[in-house]
Amino acid sequence: MSSQIIPVEPFDYVVFGGSGDLAERKLLPALYHRDHDGQIPEEARIIGASRSELTDDEYRNFAREALTKHVRQEDIHEVSLERFLGRLHYRSIDAQADRGWDELLTLLDEAGQERIRAFYLAVGPSLFAPIAYNISQKGLANEHSRLVVEKPVGRDLESAKALNLTIGRHFREHQIFRIDHYLGKETVQNLMALRFANALYEPVWNSTHVDHVQITVAESVGLEGRAGYYDKAGALRDMVQNHIVQLLCLVALEPPSAMNADALRDEKLKVLRALKTIDASNVESRTVRGQYKAGASNGSAVKSYLDDLGDGESDTETFVAIKAEIANWRWAGVPFYLRTGKRLSQRMSEIVVTFRPIPHNIFEDVAGAGKVTQNQLVLRLQPDEGMKQWLMIKDPGPGGMRLKHVPLDMTFAESFMVRNPDAYERLLMDVIRGNQTLFMRRDEVEAAWDWIDPILKAWDEKAVKSQGYTAGTWGPSSSIALIERDGRTWHEPD
Ligand code: BG6
Repeated sequence: MSSQIIPVEPFDYVVFGGSGDLAERKLLPALYHRDHDGQIPEEARIIGASRSELTDDEYRNFAREALTKHVRQEDIHEVSLERFLGRLHYRSIDAQADRGWDELLTLLDEAGQERIRAFYLAVGPSLFAPIAYNISQKGLANEHSRLVVEKPVGRDLESAKALNLTIGRHFREHQIFRIDHYLGKETVQNLMALRFANALYEPVWNSTHVDHVQITVAESVGLEGRAGYYDKAGALRDMVQNHIVQLLCLVALEPPSAMNADALRDEKLKVLRALKTIDASNVESRTVRGQYKAGASNGSAVKSYLDDLGDGESDTETFVAIKAEIANWRWAGVPFYLRTGKRLSQRMSEIVVTFRPIPHNIFEDVAGAGKVTQNQLVLRLQPDEGMKQWLMIKDPGPGGMRLKHVPLDMTFAESFMVRNPDAYERLLMDVIRGNQTLFMRRDEVEAAWDWIDPILKAWDEKAVKSQGYTAGTWGPSSSIALIERDGRTWHEPD
C-alpha cells in the first residue's frame, strides 16, 4: 500500500540560504521526495538564493551532491532526480543590499501573479528582517505569498516581539509560517490521532489517571560546527523553548473544536499560559543545567564541549532538565519532566505518559505473580517512530498466575509499508496549501518565551552553573535526582 498524495497548486519556492546547511540536509531532500511521490506539479520551481555566486547549473550540481549524501540510495531514481534538478534555479543575492533582487523578481514574474510564491528564510535570524523588508519593498510578494521563518524566533521575549513586529509589517499573520519541525514528525501527528480519533484515551487523559509525563529529546551529536550559534543559545533556547514546549502543549491541550490552525493553536496557547512560573524562588529545585565533558559517543572517544568550542571558558548548557507543572483542572499535580541534551547516550526522543498505579492489587498474595507495573504509553519520535501501550497481562502458558508487562505495539508504518516521511516534507507542502495547523502563531512563540525568560533570569540571579556530565551518559546525576526525589525514574528506552 502506498501513501495518499494530495496534490498542491503550482508554486515557486524561494529558499534564502539555498546553498546552506539546512537546504542541503533537509529542504532539498524533502522537496525531492515530494516530487518523486508525484505531489509537485509540473510547473513548480525551486529557486535557491544566497550570497554565493553560482549559476543555475552549479546549483543543480550542489543539489545533486546534497541528495546523494542525504537521501537513501534506494530512494534515488534517475528519472525523478533529473526532473527535480530541472526545477532548480539560482539567484545570487545580497540580503541587505540591492544586488540580485531585480534578477529574482524577473524570474518570479515569468510565472505570473497567480503563482504561489513561498519565501523560505533558511538564514540566520539577523537576516529575517532585511529579507522580509526587501521581498515586500522590491515587489516580490504577491497576494499568494507565504513567508517561512526558521527558528530561532528571538532569544528572549523582547527580541521575539521585535522580530514578530518587523516581519508583521510586511506580511500578514496568515502568510507567516513559523517552523517548528518537531510538529511535522509523524508521531506528533499520531499523538493527535490517538487522543482525538479514539474514545479510549481522552477519559483517562487527566490528573485522576495520569501519574506524570516525561518528554526526552536526547541527541548523541555534539556541536556539529554550529558553535557560533549554539554557545550563545544553549539547550534551553535551542530545544526547550520550541520543540519540547510544543510537544508538551500537544500532550496537554484540551480537545480543540476542529482540526484547524486557529482552533488548535488557541488550545496550545492556553497550555502555555497555564505553565507555572519557574523563577528565582524555585529554579534550583525545578531545573538542572549540564555541559558535556569528554567521553565516548557511539563507541568513539569525543571531546568536551569546551574543546569542541575551541576557546576557553563557557558555561552554556548543552543539557537541561525541568520539572514543569500546568496550573489547570486537567493537570493540577501532574509533573511534566522535560529533558534534552547533546552528547547523550543515544539519539532518542520520546514522550512517556505514565498512568497511576492500580488502586488495589488482588495479585499481591498470589505466589509468583510478580509486581504490577504502572501502565505506560510511549510515543517514540525517533529513531523507529512508533507508539507502544505497555500493559500487564498473564504470562501465557502453564505456571500459575504470573504477570508480565508487555507492549501493545501500535507502530503501523511497517504494516502499511510506507516510508516514514521526514518532518520537513509535510511542512513544506503545508506551506503551499496555506495550512498553518502545524506552525507556531505569533502569540504562541511569545507565550513560550514568557515562560522561558524567568528561568534564564533566575539562572543568572542564582548563579546556577552547568553541571559536568560525561559524554555518552544520560546527563548530570542531578537530573536523575530531580525525578527520583519524587519517587519516579526516567524511562529507560527499550
Ligand atoms: C534543531 C536544533 O532545531 O533541532 C538542533 O537547533 C538539534 O540543535 C535539532 O540538533 C534536532 O532535530 P532532530 O529532528 O534531529 O531531532
